[in-house]
Amino acid sequence: MMVYMPVQIRDSRRDRFAVGKPLWARAIATPATEFGPLPLNLTSGEIPAELRGTLYRNGPGRLTRKEQSIDHWFDGDGGILAVHFHNSGATACYRYVQTQELQTEEAKDQFLYSGYGQLAPGPIWQRWAAKPKNPANTSVLALPDKLLALWEGGNPHALDPTTLATKGLEQLSGLTPKLTYSAHPKRDPHTGKIYNFGVIFGPKSHLQLYCSHPSGEIYRQAAIPLPRLSLVHDFALAGRYLVFVVPPLSLQMLPILLGLQSLSDALQWQPHQGTQIIIVDRDTLQEVTRLDTEPWFQWHFGNGYETPTDEIVLDYIRYPNFQTNQWLKEVVSGYPQTPASGRLWQLRINPQTGKILENEQRFHLGCEFPVVSPLETGQNPQALYLTHQASTDAPTAEMFNSIARIDAQTNKIASLTFSQGCYPMEPLYAPHPYQKGQGWILTVVFDGNRDQSTVQIFLAEQLEVGPIAVLALPKVIPFGFHGTWQSALTYPESN
Ligand SMILES: [Fe+2]
Repeated sequence: MMVYMPVQIRDSRRDRFAVGKPLWARAIATPATEFGPLPLNLTSGEIPAELRGTLYRNGPGRLTRKEQSIDHWFDGDGGILAVHFHNSGATACYRYVQTQELQTEEAKDQFLYSGYGQLAPGPIWQRWAAKPKNPANTSVLALPDKLLALWEGGNPHALDPTTLATKGLEQLSGLTPKLTYSAHPKRDPHTGKIYNFGVIFGPKSHLQLYCSHPSGEIYRQAAIPLPRLSLVHDFALAGRYLVFVVPPLSLQMLPILLGLQSLSDALQWQPHQGTQIIIVDRDTLQEVTRLDTEPWFQWHFGNGYETPTDEIVLDYIRYPNFQTNQWLKEVVSGYPQTPASGRLWQLRINPQTGKILENEQRFHLGCEFPVVSPLETGQNPQALYLTHQASTDAPTAEMFNSIARIDAQTNKIASLTFSQGCYPMEPLYAPHPYQKGQGWILTVVFDGNRDQSTVQIFLAEQLEVGPIAVLALPKVIPFGFHGTWQSALTYPESN
């Protein structure tokens, strides 16, 4: 059995990163540095000739400013990595999203805004009804003519897909400044239509649903009432349905409006309320049914699909409570100590009767970032990929050190654990352009022993044999949240 020990960092840094922290903490110890476009050195293997397109990743690039530190990992300024694979190799660039708030803070070299887990400095009355900072740090959506940097509390930012230059806030022909657009849009692989939602807080809290053309232009919207002011981070496209799972959280608005608490701190875990599942017809955006069940919390769904017998199946990462939010807050310290470990579960529902038919654990190790091939979104996939801990006794302070493929039909698990001090981010699936059912997994790995980030490419069906190509990045890429693979091939047009 592998034994993990916190490793002492080698050189002297600020106190909060100096002693006893796991090696991953080095990746967030200082703000990320912009670079590129630069050609990347291939340190081993070969880039597959058919892998052509761009890997994009988003995440908080800056957690500190002079002596200031943000209070929650979710509030770091978004930085985008783009790795372009072309006939003469790979080039990469990294750019911060130039939000208006970032530019204001840059000018004063000071954090000035409240955020998800952050309260703005200064007198309390300055926070009353103040707009939070949009850090544009959670994920990306690659559209034909632009890249969107997504953050669930506001509008997306549009970027040049090649240079990553920020163009500004994006309305997609349907958003207003009061509407939000989640970081987990779903694209139908057959039609190219894009589905997404935003949580709208207020006297009539609701989910604002969006259906878009492949261009991103929104052509239909609908409002679905929420049972309470809760946190809905992701949803599932499952055949003909969109499925939303509302955890038993209750947001206390008054302390937020008075500037006394951040949104993160004002979310109360209320397990007696149970979890509510809302099923929506994806064509009409009208509610089909909703049901209440036992309490849990999830950030992410791996996928959803309909069975031939008209049941809905969802894969999701389940937590017993909301302590995961505290763990994510503590990431900023480099040494999170609140136990919070999610497991992969599968939920089966009859959408007509609104009954849960099955809800059980599929994988016994702590895990996150479940993905499937983008060609299988909303359908029964071949496999699900995720990051995970190599053992059940991994220390609370550790990041994921392994990636796995879980066969959707047989549940067979193929896993790869990286060397001590090496940490993979979300594994992203790049489909083979010509061979149906084949593809590659791309991930960015931080090696804390060498202060080095690499892009690693795996055969999706043979993760366990290790990378078939490794490319050295010129700078450290801080741990991030989500990304996407944009093939050089175009998606099909909407019917
Ligand atoms: Fe997410």
